[in-house]
Amino acid sequence: MDLQQPNTIRVTCGPGLGPYLEQELARLGYTVDATHDTGIEITATLGDAMKLNLYLRTANHVLYLLSEFACTSPDDLYRHASFVEWERLLAPDGYVSVAAGGESHAIDNWTFASLKVKDAIVDRIASVTGRRPDAGSLRDAFVVNCYWVKDYCWLYLNTSGQKLSDRGYRRIPHKAPMRETLAAGVLMAAGYDGTQPLVNPMCGSGTLAIEAALIAAGRPPGLLRSNFGFMHVLGFDDDAWQALRREAHRQKWQKGVGSLFPGRPEGCFAEKTPDPFLPQIIATDIDDRAIRASEQNARTAGVDHLIQFKQCDFADTPLPEGKGIILLNPEYGQRMGERAELEKTYARIGDFFKQKCPGWTGWIFTGNLALAKKVGLRASRRIPFFNGPIECRLLKYELYEGTRDIPPAGFVP
Ligand SMILES: C[S@@+](CC[C@H](N)C(=O)[O-])C[C@H]1O[C@@H](n2cnc3c(N)ncnc32)[C@H](O)[C@@H]1O
Repeated sequence: MDLQQPNTIRVTCGPGLGPYLEQELARLGYTVDATHDTGIEITATLGDAMKLNLYLRTANHVLYLLSEFACTSPDDLYRHASFVEWERLLAPDGYVSVAAGGESHAIDNWTFASLKVKDAIVDRIASVTGRRPDAGSLRDAFVVNCYWVKDYCWLYLNTSGQKLSDRGYRRIPHKAPMRETLAAGVLMAAGYDGTQPLVNPMCGSGTLAIEAALIAAGRPPGLLRSNFGFMHVLGFDDDAWQALRREAHRQKWQKGVGSLFPGRPEGCFAEKTPDPFLPQIIATDIDDRAIRASEQNARTAGVDHLIQFKQCDFADTPLPEGKGIILLNPEYGQRMGERAELEKTYARIGDFFKQKCPGWTGWIFTGNLALAKKVGLRASRRIPFFNGPIECRLLKYELYEGTRDIPPAGFVP
C-alpha cells in the first residue's frame, strides 16, 4: 500500500457547506470527481491530504480511501478489514480509534461495526508484529472511518483526526457559538475575501471576526493546530509537512501587502495597532463577557491585532469610512418568552441598517425566518445553511444610498 499514490480522497463538510468546500478545492487546484450532501471526492495523495488539512476552511475531515468492498454482515466487515496491511500504517505501540456510520440493514449497532474494524486492525498487527496497539474512542491519533451503505463498505484513513472545525482558538465559548467551519462558509457566501472592511455586531465568542481575520491575513487555519491524524501514520513525512507550513507562512506575509484602508473609527480601542495594509474588522457585543471571550480567542488565534473589539449595543457599533460588509448573527429564540424581546431586536436591526449603514451590504444569519421578517427590509438573497440540526438562512440586504433607499418597514424578507 503506497499512500503517495493518488487515490480517492473524500473531504467531508457540514450540511450546506458543500458549495464553499468545492470553491476552496478548485482554488487549490483539485478537480472534483463526485459531490455528496456532506462531502466531496477528489483523487489525490497523502501529501495532498496534508495540504488540504492545512488550508481548507470549510471541511470537517480529509479521508484517504484504504479499501472498499461488498459487505453484508459484521463478519464480512471483519474479514475484509483484515486484508488491509495495517502493520504498514500503524505502529504496534500506537493507538487506534474507529468511527463507523452509514445506513445499512446489515447492521443495527454502529459501535459494534467500529469494534469489528478495530479488532481486524489490532488482530492483524498482533499477528504480524506480536504486539497489539491500544484502541479507544480518542480521535487524536490514528483514526479510521468506516462508511457502510446498504451492502457496500468503505474504509478510510482519517488524515485529520479531530474535526478541522476544532481549530483550537475557541477556548472560551460564549452563547450559541457557530462552528468555525460554518463561520468560514458564511463569510464566503457573503463574498468576504479579506479585501473589504467587515463589521460584526453581536459577535458572541468572536468566531466570524476571527475567521475573517484569518482570511484577511491569508493565514490557513491548519497553522493553528499541532496535531492531525496523518502525523500518526507510520512513515509520516515531517520534512514535507514543515515545508508545507513554511510555504503557508510565506504566503501569509505576502498577503499583508494590500491596499491601505482609512483609519479606524472613533470609539474602538485606540491602543490597538491594526495592520495598516488590511481592511478593518470590527466586532462588538452588548455583553462584556462576550467581548472578553472574543479577545482571548482572537489572541489564541494570533489575530487580535487585526480586530477591534468594543462592548456596545449593536446599534452603536462604529462603522469605518467607506463601504463594506456588516454581518450579524442574532439569537434565534429557542425558548418561550424570548420571542417578543427578539422581535424588537430584529426590528431595531432593520432601523440600524436603514439609518446607519447606507452604502454597506447588510447580512443577517438566523435560524428563525419569522423573526427575520421583523427586520422590515426586503432580502435580496436568502442563502440556506444548517447550524447543527437547525435550518438557517443567510439574508442579504442591499443598503442603498440616497434615493434608491430601502423599502419602508412592512416589507417582508
Ligand atoms: C447567537 S450569539 C452570536 C454567536 C456568534 N456568531 C459566535 O459564533 O459566537 C448572539 C450574540 O448577540 C449578543 N446580543 C444580544 N443582544 C444584543 C444587542 N442588543 N446588542 C449587541 N449584542 C447583542 C449576545 O450577547 C450574543 O453574544
